[in-house]
Amino acid sequence: MNAENFEFDVIVIGSGPGGYVCAIRCAQNGLKTACVEQDKTLGGTCLNVGCIPSKALLESSHKYHSIKHEAKDHGIKIKEAQFDLNQMMQRKSKIVTNMNNGVTYLFKKNNIKTLIGKASFADKNKIIVNNKEYTAKNFVIASGSLPIEIPCAKFDHNIIVDSTDALGFEEVPKKLIVVGAGAIGLELGSVWSRLGSEVTVIEAMDTILPGVDRDVSDRLRKILEKQGVTFRLSCSVTSSKVTAKGGSVSCLENNEELTFTGDKILVAVGRKPFTEGLGIEKIELDQDKKTKAIIVNEKWQTSQNHIYAIGDVIKGPMLAHKASEEGMAVADAIADKYAHVNYRAIPNIIYTWPEVACLGLNEQECKQQNIDYKIGKFLFKANGRAQAMGETDGLIKIISDKKSDKIVGFHILGASASELIGEAVVAFEYGASSEDLARSVHAHPTLSEVIKEAALSVYSQAIHS
Ligand code: NAI
Repeated sequence: MNAENFEFDVIVIGSGPGGYVCAIRCAQNGLKTACVEQDKTLGGTCLNVGCIPSKALLESSHKYHSIKHEAKDHGIKIKEAQFDLNQMMQRKSKIVTNMNNGVTYLFKKNNIKTLIGKASFADKNKIIVNNKEYTAKNFVIASGSLPIEIPCAKFDHNIIVDSTDALGFEEVPKKLIVVGAGAIGLELGSVWSRLGSEVTVIEAMDTILPGVDRDVSDRLRKILEKQGVTFRLSCSVTSSKVTAKGGSVSCLENNEELTFTGDKILVAVGRKPFTEGLGIEKIELDQDKKTKAIIVNEKWQTSQNHIYAIGDVIKGPMLAHKASEEGMAVADAIADKYAHVNYRAIPNIIYTWPEVACLGLNEQECKQQNIDYKIGKFLFKANGRAQAMGETDGLIKIISDKKSDKIVGFHILGASASELIGEAVVAFEYGASSEDLARSVHAHPTLSEVIKEAALSVYSQAIHS
């Protein structure tokens, strides 16, 4: 095909935080861009059934829980706090709709053609959407991921549910079984626990949040246990049953067989790249044999140079901000500009209360990699603002290289950890040492002073401990 005949410079497949951000940056770079979305609304998993609705429910349930349990402490008397689940769900849906409209507006403003329908490659320069053909010089696959289904507890989307279902329960389950103590299990487990469910989380590993620094994950587990969540660790699901009233899962915990029953069973054991129906076998894109992730080079090119892939559909952490960064970088690469993602500086956040936010290596990884390191830790309970807020749970832990003092790991368990981690990301980007952070002025009284104190404590010089 003659290059002049291409309808678009770029067609982006998928409008999640990878795809829509990529499409906007392509348009900003002067490229004629289209974005294809198979759902009715734009925004992908994150906006429709992931980050945004879950944070809306986390916020509502946190407010209810804190009014119920902490208002008295502040001298506030409320006779009996109650909640209206229907109203909470409506609020959540309204936020999602507002954000959907926001992406639609941005597409219009940037002259991006929106194609609603399933995209499938006809050949390496052409896709079909709703029986119509569209050609482009470049394609970006940003088709995202789907929840992993385990054979011993298959989704029926009524009793055995995935994260999307668990964002829309019509009533609070009396008993909720959660399989998997990862981000989704802990966030959605927290929502329903705060609203009154008896929540049991079953986790195959010997810790919650495997991959997170043990100082953080062990403390978080104890805090969540105090909030009423039960954990069964080193416990793997072997089978499940659905009955008229609910369901049950049988598990092996240290060779002992156990059965747990619940009104609902949320299975949150990870997500897998979503490539079904894209027709990528026709254009011979390489995929990882095990995970089915599309294989890309350091410039996000697939085995076809003009077809790129980003976000959950390629390897790496399945995080919205990682996908967005890749989206912008690919748009710049296509426009022949400098394109880079610093994979060392991608924060990982779990929106429990207190929140968890991590960056870089954890202590276990430092040991495995034989890194000579120093550690600084500081507890929120020794911070004035945390005391005033009544948010004294948690700590900040900074790991730095013993010789150079360069920060290699940054771990927060505490109120507003998701916001505080921003300082660590900038520190990482600039290759900061713990001394750099310790010498930076942190306003008083703020939670950010815990960062300064943790940095000072790398040299055993924290003031308030
Ligand atoms: P995950 O990979 O974070 O956690 C899954 C957990 O299930 C692991 O701890 C694993 O050991 C456990 N597990 C696996 N098989 C099991 C079995 N048969 N029995 C018991 N436990 C088992 O996956 P999750 O929570 O489903 O999240 C999926 C993806 O979405 C992740 O990549 C996550 O990072 C991302 N996500 C990010 C959020 C955030 O940034 N706050 C929020 C929600 C999801």
